[in-house]
Amino acid sequence: MSRADPPLYYRRHVFCCVNTRAPDHPRGCCSAKDSVKLRAHMKARAKQRGLSDVRINASQCLDRCEFGPTMVIYPEGVWYAVKTVADVDEIIETHLVQGGRVERLMLMPDQPFPNEADSAGVPSRAAASAAS
Ligand code: FES
Repeated sequence: MSRADPPLYYRRHVFCCVNTRAPDHPRGCCSAKDSVKLRAHMKARAKQRGLSDVRINASQCLDRCEFGPTMVIYPEGVWYAVKTVADVDEIIETHLVQGGRVERLMLMPDQPFPNEADSAGVPSRAAASAAS
């Protein structure tokens, strides 16, 4: 018999990809697109906003490199592609503080790669599932 899940330790848990790859890697990497700076900004801003129940973690590759910089927020499992500190600020205010969604930055599970030619023939997870 299973028992109920325990209460959440963090109200929200954010994983920001800061993975680094060689410059010639076909999938690229989030750190080459300023993810380290964006994650540091998010961490500082969350602290400034008093979000002590939100954890902003650095992550290795989340396997959605072509959209990077990427982040995912749990427990809801909402993904974002973040380009600027203004994007980060909007996610903090709208998602983490107000509980809403920044739809213009969200990544959907079946989202096609931004440029299939840049994906080095690596299909998205949804495309791979549909083909099998
Ligand atoms: S390098 Fe960031 S998702 Fe892969």
